[in-house]
Amino acid sequence: MPTPSSSSPSPAAERPWWYAAVIYQVYARSFADGRPAPAGDGIGDLPGITARLPHLRDLGVDALWITPFYRSPQHDHGYDVADYTDVDPLFGTLEDADRLIARAHEFDLRVIVDIVPNHTSEEHAWFVEALAAAPGSPERARYLFREGRGEKGEEPPNNWQSVFGGPAWTRVTEPDGTPGQWYLHLFDSSQPDLDWRNPEVGDMFEGVLRFWLDRGVDGFRIDVAHGLFKEESLRDQERPEPGADGAGEDGAAVSTTGDSMVERVLRDEPMWEQPEVHEVYRRWRRVLEEYPGDRMAVAEAWTQTPESMAEFIRPDELHQAFNFAWLTTPWSASAFAEVIEHSIAAVSASASAPTWVLSNHDVVRHPTRYGGGAQGLARARAATLTMLALPGSAYLYQGEELGLEQVDVAPEHRQDPSWFRTGEPGRDGCRVPLPWGGEVPPFEFGGPESAGQPWIPQPAEWAGLTVAAQEADPDSTLAFYRRTLSARREHLAGADDATTARADGDVLTVERAGLRVVLNAGGEAVALPEGEVVIASGPLTDDGLLPPDTAAWVR
Ligand code: GLC
Repeated sequence: MPTPSSSSPSPAAERPWWYAAVIYQVYARSFADGRPAPAGDGIGDLPGITARLPHLRDLGVDALWITPFYRSPQHDHGYDVADYTDVDPLFGTLEDADRLIARAHEFDLRVIVDIVPNHTSEEHAWFVEALAAAPGSPERARYLFREGRGEKGEEPPNNWQSVFGGPAWTRVTEPDGTPGQWYLHLFDSSQPDLDWRNPEVGDMFEGVLRFWLDRGVDGFRIDVAHGLFKEESLRDQERPEPGADGAGEDGAAVSTTGDSMVERVLRDEPMWEQPEVHEVYRRWRRVLEEYPGDRMAVAEAWTQTPESMAEFIRPDELHQAFNFAWLTTPWSASAFAEVIEHSIAAVSASASAPTWVLSNHDVVRHPTRYGGGAQGLARARAATLTMLALPGSAYLYQGEELGLEQVDVAPEHRQDPSWFRTGEPGRDGCRVPLPWGGEVPPFEFGGPESAGQPWIPQPAEWAGLTVAAQEADPDSTLAFYRRTLSARREHLAGADDATTARADGDVLTVERAGLRVVLNAGGEAVALPEGEVVIASGPLTDDGLLPPDTAAWVR
């Protein structure tokens, strides 16, 4: 049964820029290496982004989100920040950041920067001071230092696991050389978690927000926004034994009904989604509203349900939250219909609109998730075309406009901290530097003149996938993305949000603003409804039917 969404909370003409924006994620290390001669340390940087802004203008996006470029020892490629108000020399200078922001604004592109409030780097001045200070000192009170369990404190204070594998606690050696307290790190041991119950922490981050707002950024992407506060007791997490009733492979609870969206068994997570975190975002909202120009913030919040995600975008909190439900939906018309309806319904009480995302720097690229090869790419294009007709805003990840697949990075080139902690391949395969032109690696990553090899080797097969190669081919994925974004502006700019989504067997039909989006998730070609085909994700059959793994907009 189609379920109409509630219609737009505000008339299109009054909507802020971000409401229905298409935002392009730039992974700073891997977008473009633009430093002047001697060029090519093989690591992307701010001048490289500035030099390549015309690519984003020509693509037709509204904004870019740039992953962290602040001072950092780069153990988690910038998500371990040593100084929030300076640029790492690897990426350039503060003046380079100013030039990037100014140039982007000249192209009418907004700039969103990343903020990492859950943890600092171990090289942040605060953590260095904490290690040098005594247990119980004000320096240690900015982080979560605790005594260990066991007779000699040799066991971690609780049973929490790091997201990157292994225990979430590391024991320090006290200044006098004895084994000492433990500190919490939900990610790598080089990323100590801050104690947000300490008011100094909130004050520091307000200063960081103002620093970048004063430099002209249009918004923030908030890293691990569902973190920050931990249950004050730091009690053990309840984890069923792996394989026990109701437990998944990792011991996490799973839905018993199979309907993961609607009814699920919630995991016990004393480290995430604590109610106190919402006060932080109320404060940030007040700061953002002091500045002109609809400055915004988007949460990276891996919440357990769409409803708990919606709490982050209550009218006095953040403007948007990433909707990872779309990213994790399997290839199925009914699953797509369900996630569209449920996502729209979950945000309808807020002043916001849904967001949609298929790829980012932490997940396997979607053509590969959809099976890879020609079929994976066809499905990826069909999912993208469908996503870009939905109400709200969409986030694209660099390289998806080229149809890039996940790369199987050789072990000696892997750098993801989770690889070092677990021995699993990790996330490097979606972070391989972009191919811009030329026939062989480095594919002009450092500009046309540079032969410097990038920090992860690019596959030789990317020769046909460079920006230059695809610009010359009207059937390329790049040409398809440009056409789709242009069709979105033409047919959906300012459109009402009211949307219906339904599955008839393997065929998904989404209706919005007089447009019918049909996606064929089955194995046979199907007839399209009457009307003009505005755009399709791949060729139709000679009889005008919609082939499997293809989507079209019909008006
Ligand atoms: C977020 C980032 C990820 C990073 C982690 C720790 O999930 O997207 O790349 O490793 O936070 O900061």
